[in-house]
Amino acid sequence: MKILIVIIIILALAMGLFIIFINSGIYNIAATSEHNSLTLKIINTTVDNSIKRHAEGIEVPDLTDSNMIARGFEHFDEMCVICHGAIGIGKDEFAIGLYPEAPALEEEAEEWTAAELFWITKHGIKLTGMPAIGDVHSDREIWPIIAFLQVLPEMTYQEYISMRQTGEQESEEAEEENSQNHGSHTH
Ligand code: HEC
Repeated sequence: MKILIVIIIILALAMGLFIIFINSGIYNIAATSEHNSLTLKIINTTVDNSIKRHAEGIEVPDLTDSNMIARGFEHFDEMCVICHGAIGIGKDEFAIGLYPEAPALEEEAEEWTAAELFWITKHGIKLTGMPAIGDVHSDREIWPIIAFLQVLPEMTYQEYISMRQTGEQESEEAEEENSQNHGSHTH
């Protein structure tokens, strides 16, 4: 009985100290102040296991189609490279100050399954800069990005640049075609 009372008192004290701590403002929330190793371990373990658990049961479509990869590249180049960079393509200036930093996906993508990459991209990661792309993109638009992430680790800087150029050429051609079609309709 005595032991129980002592334990309750200790727990109440710990709780009280914790409440004082979170109300005091002592904790430094600055992105420039790195987590200590224990906090980091707790966060990383929570994030990793949460992703693995939530991605269970997601059915992965065929991701090898080259048109799909090309579509995924466009999205990646527009929406992901600004924060993550890629094989020699620098990230935007603002993204250098992110904490946690957005990791290089040509290295990290291989650490996750396609289902996990899909889940991360769709839902984002709380309390980090990683946005939920699924808020404004359907699953059909997200899978091509995952298809592209599968080939990114094997790509070279030159190949990346030439995919950009192909994309630009195609959109120019499409624009020309559009204006020609438009012209022939009005005549
Ligand atoms: C505004 C910045 C930002 C944008 C844009 C962004 N990300 Fe992220 N992303 C992050 C940050 C920050 C993390 C690190 C989160 C963490 O450490 O838990 C991250 C983590 C990830 C991870 C997990 C990597 C790992 O091993 O920890 C994947 C996968 C990912 N992002 C994919 C994408 C894809 C795909 C896109 C584009 C559709 C994208 N991200 C766009 C900031 C961004």
